[in-house]
Amino acid sequence: MLKAVERKIEQYIIDLDEPEILGLYAKLPVGKRLRAKLILRIAGSNLRVVKTAAIVEMIHAASLLHDDVIDDADVRRNKPSINALYGNKTAIMFGDILYSKGFFELGEIDPKIAQIISNAVVQLSLGELRDVSLSQSFTTNKDAYLKMIYQKTASLIEASAESAALLAGKKPEPYRIYGRNLGLAFQMIDDILDITSDSATLGKPALHDFEEGKTTLPYIYLYEKLDTTEQEKFKFMHGKKLKKNEQEWIKVQMKNHKIIEQSYAEAKALIDEAITLMSTEGEDALSTIAKEMIERDF
Ligand code: FPP
Ligand code: MG
Repeated sequence: MLKAVERKIEQYIIDLDEPEILGLYAKLPVGKRLRAKLILRIAGSNLRVVKTAAIVEMIHAASLLHDDVIDDADVRRNKPSINALYGNKTAIMFGDILYSKGFFELGEIDPKIAQIISNAVVQLSLGELRDVSLSQSFTTNKDAYLKMIYQKTASLIEASAESAALLAGKKPEPYRIYGRNLGLAFQMIDDILDITSDSATLGKPALHDFEEGKTTLPYIYLYEKLDTTEQEKFKFMHGKKLKKNEQEWIKVQMKNHKIIEQSYAEAKALIDEAITLMSTEGEDALSTIAKEMIERDF
């Protein structure tokens, strides 16, 4: 049924009646469609469900277009980013168009669902702002990190699950928690992969987050384990292009202190909680998609 979502997105793009946008859309790498999959798994596949899934994916695509401008990223999913191909102005405006069209179509679905999704986009934007602010200095505040990833990533996944539950006439609360946990775990894994994956698999340079000034969960845990001299050395490397030996040093420290295992366990605990919650709702089928969040290498 994911095909129906793809067709709906294409239809929304064609509605715009603007050949330039069609061309840009063709250059947009198709992602994992995780949010759409989640919505379809929870709510089946009637027209309202397909439309909601298409709208959420358009909003998500818009947020990544803007994020790549903010992060100055040349690559997205192993392909050149829109900002790299056509410049920041085009990427921002294309994002605005996808986002506004999504909102326009959302108005037709249901006022409650429109409210849930639009609130998630407010959170998403606040989260991105928080991410940028946090990366201005070396921060190892885990609560601040968790709040930021909740806003930046989990909010839209949470809203997707909750909206899908409402569309299917199911009680929303457990689905909201399920979506929230999946979203948090997803971002934690994303942050782990930035360290463990090679750049070819990841579609962006490895250890890029730390160079960009981001102190994600593994870096927070590593800092806690280092002695004072090592902490100073570590802080000095933050927010700069890393030399080969510095990259190695970070990776060796991570290995010695079992940081990846510790971070992965935290993501897995969230997924296990989500799976248990869904099985009490008789939704065992929702465990597969939850496992996919953490069992991935890109
Ligand atoms: C990716 O984070 C970024 C997000 C999940 C959210 C971005 C949100 C905005 C730019 C707010 C604007 C939103 C709209 C809809 C106009 P990342 O940089 O950690 O992940 P990456 O490695 O995939 O780039
Ligand atoms: Mg980014």
